[in-house]
Amino acid sequence: MSQAIEPKAGILEIAPYVGGGCHAPDVVELSMNENPNGPPESAREALRKTAHLLHRYPPSDHRDLRAAIGAVHRLDPDRIVCGAGSDELISMLCTAYTGPGAEVIHTEHGFAMYRISALAAGATPVQVAEHERKVDVDAILDACNFRTRLVFLANPANPTGTMIGANEVGRLAADLPEHVLLVLDGAYAEYIEGYDGGAKLVDKRENVVMTRTFSKIYGLGGLRVGWAYGPAHVIDVLNRVRGPFNLGLAQLEAAEAAVQDRDFVERSRIENARLRGWMADALAELGVLSDTSCANFVLARFDSIDEAIACQDRLRADGVLVKRVAGYGLPHCLRITVGDEASCRRVVHCIAGLKAEPG
Ligand SMILES: Cc1ncc(COP(=O)(O)O)c(C=O)c1O
Repeated sequence: MSQAIEPKAGILEIAPYVGGGCHAPDVVELSMNENPNGPPESAREALRKTAHLLHRYPPSDHRDLRAAIGAVHRLDPDRIVCGAGSDELISMLCTAYTGPGAEVIHTEHGFAMYRISALAAGATPVQVAEHERKVDVDAILDACNFRTRLVFLANPANPTGTMIGANEVGRLAADLPEHVLLVLDGAYAEYIEGYDGGAKLVDKRENVVMTRTFSKIYGLGGLRVGWAYGPAHVIDVLNRVRGPFNLGLAQLEAAEAAVQDRDFVERSRIENARLRGWMADALAELGVLSDTSCANFVLARFDSIDEAIACQDRLRADGVLVKRVAGYGLPHCLRITVGDEASCRRVVHCIAGLKAEPG
């Protein structure tokens, strides 16, 4: 590497994100929190229809997708901005609101991209302790100072699957210093019946923005589409830093079809809740406990780090990929996506086999 050419401060502190992900047909992929059923047929059909337009630049205002999201969620489309996954929105928020000397708060087991995006923007990530794998609002408030610019809060959280209540989130928003923007990451919001991801709080306040994704319940992780809803001043700022063609036509059309397929979302939510409950209970009977998950995965806690590793190895040997979350401060845990019924049974069967072996 050249000694003379150096990236700006912070970049070399970034540990590159390690994704899992394997698409081999004989592998059961339960490490990426994807919808095991894939996207709705309506989205596949919309995608196919874009094939003859690949030579055309896509629309840069995302008007139709924003209108569809707005109609479904009863939100003002002018206060929606779309990105290449919510990852891009997280990055845009850090670019726009932080930089050298600024602090970005994320919680102890919070999603890895908060730290990465803060460092990439030249800011300082600040990790705040959680309480028993749950976000602690008072600890966040205590960590705020004149340098703090952003607070990232995933609700439900990844990889814990836990959630804090609307009152707590409202208290956090109300008590933050006035120069701090609260980012409510609702990547898993659709998995909770009747939950708006924090949209009503956004409407009430000038210091809250919500991010959402098409990668989870909509089964479109491969396309990269997310969106944010916020006060007009935040949306205006994000549109200034956003690349004009950050979403391709295929992304826009497929997401627009998917968001309108409410039956698909409802079916996916119900099926996820059923299998999540079944898997968590079956694991608990084997002595593998988990917090009540509000998302599409279960964070399984093992007796030791060695047992977690042995279990991941055993599952892998059986063709099942799950996620180790040692990098999230949870070395004795595995995050297991709720797959289809056969996959959930396979996970439990495999762990039961390991547990039955003499120790
Ligand atoms: C909490 C949380 N936020 C954001 C994302 C990013 O999702 P995407 O960039 O695919 O929209 C994820 C993905 O796993 C996540 O778990």
